[in-house]
Amino acid sequence: MPHVDVRQVQLRDLTTLKVGGAAELWDVLDEAGLREATAAPFRVIGAGSNLLVADAGVPERVVRLSRAFNDIGAMRGPHDLWLGAATPLPGLVRRAQRLGLSGLEGLLGVPAVLGGAVAMNAGTRFGEMSDTLQEVELFVNGGLERVEAAALRPGYRHAELPDGAVVVRARLRLSPSDPLRVQARMDEVDAARAGQPKIKSAGCAFKNPPGSSAGQIIDAAGLKGLRVGDAMVSLEHGNFIVNLGNATARDVCALLTRINERLPVPLELEWRRWGF
Ligand code: FAD
Ligand code: EPU
Repeated sequence: MPHVDVRQVQLRDLTTLKVGGAAELWDVLDEAGLREATAAPFRVIGAGSNLLVADAGVPERVVRLSRAFNDIGAMRGPHDLWLGAATPLPGLVRRAQRLGLSGLEGLLGVPAVLGGAVAMNAGTRFGEMSDTLQEVELFVNGGLERVEAAALRPGYRHAELPDGAVVVRARLRLSPSDPLRVQARMDEVDAARAGQPKIKSAGCAFKNPPGSSAGQIIDAAGLKGLRVGDAMVSLEHGNFIVNLGNATARDVCALLTRINERLPVPLELEWRRWGF
């Protein structure tokens, strides 16, 4: 029985921005697979929704947790539960609503898997991952280790994972509620996202500076529609860079530079950059 499935991929096929070159993908099927896959330099990929990957790809192994780490089906009842890091967040949010469990509504519309959402402390102004996260199970230094959520010191789009750690499971605590109330809250979050583009992107490119909005700053500077190749500042939301078809990482990087050159104070990238 193999513990890993290894193959060559183009990372553009594994990211929502659809940019990025070659890598060796190590799909991990179980804990023994994790040990094998992490025995040489590696990176971990979740749903690839916050990544800008270089056109040349990355030399390290790209480790991905397989369906064995997706526990969406196991989410039936208790409001304090362990879920695998490959569990898709959109499914989790919907399922929690149906079960009358509150706490994840603010994450509606974040196209992550649980591990990536924990690693980034994904969120919106309606709530973030750390609101419900109690504990994580990490694969680190060749073995599994449980760590209290507070030890990750979660902040705005940020969590401090130990070097080389893979989030394998997360324990969430949700609050029993009425499904209709949970749905009403989700509708509110959905409405707040109405101005975001549906075209290929990696979400917001830049972090919001304290007290303001990067999208508003880019918009006010007249940069919507600015384009390099097929990479364009969204016409709908200034902080989204969209791939109109065949954008390369080179196009996207040139566009990021042009945006910041035109602003009085450069913005800080939210995306994780791989291979630069
Ligand atoms: P990836 O993009 O694959 O990886 C992100 C980082 O997490 C990488 O450094 C990776 O190494 C690390 N990582 C992934 N999995 C693991 C793991 N198991 N163990 C250790 N490290 C890991 N984000 C928000 O916060 N709020 C939003 O409202 C939001 N809206 C978005 C809307 C759209 C349309 C898109 C495309 C993106 C949006 N994002 C948003 C960005 C993105 O969804 C989040 O950053 C998310 O947390 C990334 O999760 P992922 O599984 O895709 O991780
Ligand atoms: N605005 C403009 N022009 C634009 C975009 C926004 O004027 O082009 C204005 C809006 O009208 C609003 C303000 O800026 O008054 C804030 O905009 P929005 O409500 O869209 O929120 P945001 O700060 O741009 C943040 C997160 C999103 C998250 C939404 C919803 C960051 C960087 N972005 O966006 O997260 O979905 O709030 O809560 O924190 C992400 O991190 O990838 C992401 C998409």
